[in-house]
Amino acid sequence: DIRIYVEEAPGQRREIMAPTDMGLSLMELLKASGYDIMATCGGMALCATCHVEVLAGPALPEPEDAELDMLETLPVVHLGSRLSCQIRLTPRTDGLVVRLAPTGA
Ligand code: FES
Repeated sequence: DIRIYVEEAPGQRREIMAPTDMGLSLMELLKASGYDIMATCGGMALCATCHVEVLAGPALPEPEDAELDMLETLPVVHLGSRLSCQIRLTPRTDGLVVRLAPTGA
């Protein structure tokens, strides 16, 4: 298992243990952990309601074009903005720190 951290308030991080052998996305983990993420499109990079801001941790694979296009539609993006449905949980994502980002919608 790996550890993912969610910054719920400045300086306040919740640690979540996550399996890496189930092909889970970060979006699925966050939903299963009780966060209010709509994920209207079901993880297809088509809705951007799963927007998160990556604050720290290991380098992630670069976003695909579909993710970049969708991020461009958001009124507010951050340096570390990503669609959590496009982040696959693997041993290489151990220690990732994210914050749920406002969609601005
Ligand atoms: Fe729709 Fe991620 S769940 S873009």
